Amino acid sequence: MVQLVHTIKAVRDAVADARRRGLKAGLVPTMGALHDGHGSLIEAARRECGYVVVSIFVNPLQFGPTEDYDRYPRTLERDVAYCGEKGADLVFAPEVREMYPSPSLTFVSVEKITDTLCGASRPGHFRGVATVVSKLFNIVLPDVAYFGQKDAQQAAVIKRMVSDLNFPLTVAVVPTFREPDGLAMSSRNRYLSKEDRQAALVLYRSLQGAMSLLEHGERRPDVIRSYLRSTIEAEPRARLDYADVVDPETMQPVTEIEGDVLLVVAAYFGEARLIDNMLFSLPVR
Ligand code: PAF
Repeated sequence: MVQLVHTIKAVRDAVADARRRGLKAGLVPTMGALHDGHGSLIEAARRECGYVVVSIFVNPLQFGPTEDYDRYPRTLERDVAYCGEKGADLVFAPEVREMYPSPSLTFVSVEKITDTLCGASRPGHFRGVATVVSKLFNIVLPDVAYFGQKDAQQAAVIKRMVSDLNFPLTVAVVPTFREPDGLAMSSRNRYLSKEDRQAALVLYRSLQGAMSLLEHGERRPDVIRSYLRSTIEAEPRARLDYADVVDPETMQPVTEIEGDVLLVVAAYFGEARLIDNMLFSLPVR
């Protein structure tokens, strides 16, 4: 049976108890509105850890003033049931005042990796993410924390933060979970109208096409960039935010295709801003 707690003390007590029983703790940080993408993170944690905590917290610090904080879907009852089905042991769902009892004066800011892509489009977003994830790490003290490859820049930021600040845990990145037609699962997909849901497939299509160019030997990053851009721009319902080929660790545009490169795209469909990515690894000769 999954247990639901709302306070920092309760989650700390529960994890300490699990640890006394010799169990390894896995944390899946989420903002709720859970879908099967989150499900695959919980399942990975379940396979690898004896005690699985899912945090559900819509973090105000990572939303810009004009973003969707107020209307972000909040479906706690359903989410807790879903966590139970996926085999989680504990759901930690704090109120804002539990996480931020007074306005924060301390923030975690990961530089450079956050200058590009979503960091450029959403100023302050990754500072909010890194700060809340640090707090969650200090509250839950997990052995392993699970993040999705769909949010590749977020995963890179967290990995770097863990390394730079010596958090004693491992970051696991779980492959993107897709709908049968290829759309990457996201809590924001529920904002899409029927027409925009269909149009949003252009993100997946653009990435697949670019992967195919790379697989057939194309090695000019600018050709890949313009392919991604023109494919998305050809969809009348899409408003392109970015399309790029970057280094998967630094998130900086690459000048050459060598080793691993990450193809990244973001676009608006109506009010919903969706992102997606694919990793291309140049076979070692
Ligand atoms: O990916 C998310 O849902 C959020 O950014 C996270 C990691 C839970 C931090 O609020």
